[in-house]
Amino acid sequence: NMPILEQCYNLLDFEAVAKNVMKRTAWAYYSSAADDEITMRENRNAYHKIWFRPRVLQDVTDIDLSTTMLGTKVDIPFYVTATALGKLGNPEGEVVLTRGARKHNVIQMIPTLASCSFDEIVDAAEDGQCQWLQLYVNKNRDITKRIVQHAEKRGCKGLFITVDAPQLGRREKDMRSKFSDVGSNVQSSSGDNVDRSQGAARAISSFIDPSLSWKDIPWFLSITKMPIILKGVQCVEDVIRACHAGVHGVVLSNHGGRQLDFARSGIEVLAEVMPVLRERGLENKLEIFVDGGVRRATDIIKALCLGAKGVGIGRPFLYAMSAYGLPGVDRAMQLLKDEMEMNMRLIGCQNVTQLNPSLVDTRGLSMH
Ligand code: FNR
Repeated sequence: NMPILEQCYNLLDFEAVAKNVMKRTAWAYYSSAADDEITMRENRNAYHKIWFRPRVLQDVTDIDLSTTMLGTKVDIPFYVTATALGKLGNPEGEVVLTRGARKHNVIQMIPTLASCSFDEIVDAAEDGQCQWLQLYVNKNRDITKRIVQHAEKRGCKGLFITVDAPQLGRREKDMRSKFSDVGSNVQSSSGDNVDRSQGAARAISSFIDPSLSWKDIPWFLSITKMPIILKGVQCVEDVIRACHAGVHGVVLSNHGGRQLDFARSGIEVLAEVMPVLRERGLENKLEIFVDGGVRRATDIIKALCLGAKGVGIGRPFLYAMSAYGLPGVDRAMQLLKDEMEMNMRLIGCQNVTQLNPSLVDTRGLSMH
């Protein structure tokens, strides 16, 4: 007696359904996080420590949720972030997310470790639909260069280099589920000696280069014209370093709590970063994104008030796709739009350019 789709009233509802209907191994891979999963829980908790300071009497008849990210106009300030192994949840895999993103005019970030091939995911997009590439950097830089230049040729509009995963975190739920079938044609499977005893994540990630360093950034800037964004930056020092390295943006992220347990939440780091960037006049040099634990439109609004250009959302769309396929993804995105329109009215803003720090009370964040 699974609830029908219309009984899902928010993004968290999809998670409860997915847990019941998904294969145990797939659920373990999607839902797991590192060690004691403290960071994953904190990703939600941190949003609960921020309160609104709404303005009244603002004429909120018409609300415009649109914005731009890396130069692309989108309907609402979130994107579908990269999550590996889409076919664990749905036989069609990542292309289901592509279609949902198209319908709602939001951007999809294509994972290096997608279940569908990169070209299948690009082919599933319609003309003009914006996609980005998430990159795990291979020890073999020729492979990396080929992936990046192919993505640019196929029209990708951003290169997100994951920098929080020199080694994949230990996700014990995933390890316990004795992952046995990767069920994908991920790049790592060619030639690597895949050890399946350590869970899905570790089985597919042995190609990632732990020697990646700041010294490599000029090389990336030299092989592509796509904007380069570092995904997984976690403190203000590294944001400033990224700025001086000449990249175009950062994602303040802890990989959905799947890497370093006791990493701080992205929203907490954002509150640390933005005042320093403003003080140094660097706030327009980079686009700052945040992900991790975004489940409500109020979370999106809080992140934008604190200075984020947009937020990434991962698991909720995987769960919606796993439970209900494309209609689930469609409904999840529509619910966010409806929630955001209403909450923009209630805080007294007609459009996202009006969102600013004076609309939030962040005294509950532990940095204060
Ligand atoms: C991820 N994430 C991720 N990130 C990345 O850079 N490369 C990857 O291959 C993956 N794979 C992946 C798989 C699964 C199942 C999850 C849940 C996450 C991290 C992802 O991009 C993002 O940082 C988090 O998912 C954001 O947190 P929420 O929205 O899932 O709470």
